[in-house]
Amino acid sequence: MTSESFLSVENATRRFAGLVAVDTVTFRVERGEILSMIGPNGAGKTTMFNLITGQLSLSGGAIVFGGEQIGKLPPHVRAQRGMGRTFQIAKPFIGLTTRENVMVGAFRRNRRFTDAFDRANAVLAEVGLEARADASASELTLSERRRLEIARALALSPELILLDEVMAGLNATEVTEVIDLIQRLNDRGMTFLVIEHNLKVVRAVSRRVIVLDHGVKIAEGTATEVLSDPKVVKAYLGKRAE
Ligand SMILES: Nc1ncnc2c1ncn2[C@@H]1O[C@H](COP(=O)(O)OP(=O)(O)OP(=O)(O)O)[C@@H](O)[C@H]1O
Ligand SMILES: [Mg+2]
Repeated sequence: MTSESFLSVENATRRFAGLVAVDTVTFRVERGEILSMIGPNGAGKTTMFNLITGQLSLSGGAIVFGGEQIGKLPPHVRAQRGMGRTFQIAKPFIGLTTRENVMVGAFRRNRRFTDAFDRANAVLAEVGLEARADASASELTLSERRRLEIARALALSPELILLDEVMAGLNATEVTEVIDLIQRLNDRGMTFLVIEHNLKVVRAVSRRVIVLDHGVKIAEGTATEVLSDPKVVKAYLGKRAE
């Protein structure tokens, strides 16, 4: 290993009562890459995200980000260190406008109203929501809500963004738009860790993929490698047969 990893997850473990939702999982994310995390329902993907961003505490193991042990820091401090995320169940403030939703995030970094306003506008333009800035968040379509989630993450100028199934429920055109957005941000240096069920998306965006099943990392490699791995095929087919 010539250089230190950007994000390093080392034997991360999370127990819920009798269940080991994430079981000694180790992987690295390199600066500038798009790494996909796949696996059947209940594999522990969202739990893994929650361990990385601090919504859940580790039962064991460590998380190193930018050379620093962050496994015990609260979520807002990890966000200040440069981690942004979306949630599988988007929870915008529905009483606020689209722009105000983004400003809530931007305020955490910059207390001046005009700066937060400008930052929100810039981020909304980035995700293609500038025309919806004054609309109530409750009026947004599913696809717009997903892009708002990404905008809220971007508002804090993160270096790493974790996307939890941002494509779910989108049509083919909308999926293409979000892929383009991710690739554009990645071209400018943003690093991504992406949970995705749509394997076409996984193939399109990621060079490297890790696979979780029952909390355990069962495969790691290129999309083509892991998707042809019998262990991975069995994990998915086994789930379908249940
Ligand atoms: N707060 C919690 N309390 C108890 N069990 C939990 C909790 N959160 C998750 N689990 C359990 O941990 C396991 C992993 O859940 P998780 O949500 O991480 O899976 P996932 O891979 O994200 O699944 P999906 O693809 O359906 O989103 C599941 O068995 C789930 O029921
Ligand atoms: Mg999940």
